[in-house]
Amino acid sequence: MPDALNLLETRRSVSARNMVEPGPDDAALQRMLAIASRVPDHGKLTPWRFIVYSGAMRAKAGEKLAILHAKRGADAEKIEATRISLTRGPVVVAVISTAAEHPKIPVWEQEMSAGAATMNLCIAAHAMGFAANWLTDWFAYDEEAKAVLGIKADEKVAGFVYIGSKAEAPQERPRPALETIVTHWSA
Ligand SMILES: Cc1cc2nc3c(=O)[nH]c(=O)nc-3n(C[C@H](O)[C@H](O)[C@H](O)COP(=O)(O)O)c2cc1C
Repeated sequence: MPDALNLLETRRSVSARNMVEPGPDDAALQRMLAIASRVPDHGKLTPWRFIVYSGAMRAKAGEKLAILHAKRGADAEKIEATRISLTRGPVVVAVISTAAEHPKIPVWEQEMSAGAATMNLCIAAHAMGFAANWLTDWFAYDEEAKAVLGIKADEKVAGFVYIGSKAEAPQERPRPALETIVTHWSA
């Protein structure tokens, strides 16, 4: 098990299409979700929730999304991609932002907390030896598709986190040079 810094320095997404079984069992998933829910949250509003798609439910949801995609006029290839989309990951967790207007806490801050929960879930999966991929896709933004997936109209998808095992280690990808993104303020 790598130490925490090494873990953060080596974490990479593993593309959902390259994932293999097994996914996390119930105990491992519970642990990941507990870690995902341990994030900064201004006002302690818990402005996010999780929906788990696993087992046969992934294909069932995919069938319904494919029908909708056809109704939207997608071509055959895209409809098929939608049909199998959720089955690419042994387990898929939707992180849902439930942010709402609040007298003190801006919606933006609540939404960022959902992003933090999503990232914590990815890191927890990596720390436990699993592969993870944070995706959205068209069905994160389509109202009817959201309803199919159990997401309310006033909720937003922070991400669908696909969790499984890696067949091979992912290649590194370029990261921004720090001098292009860091400035030191001075008066
Ligand atoms: C909010 C969000 C949504 C994303 N949605 C997609 C997506 O729909 N399709 C995709 O190919 N990548 C998507 N990505 C990017 C993947 O997560 C990508 O694999 C990742 O940025 C790779 O970087 P990493 O190796 O540092 O994790 C999304 C990323 C974020 C933060």
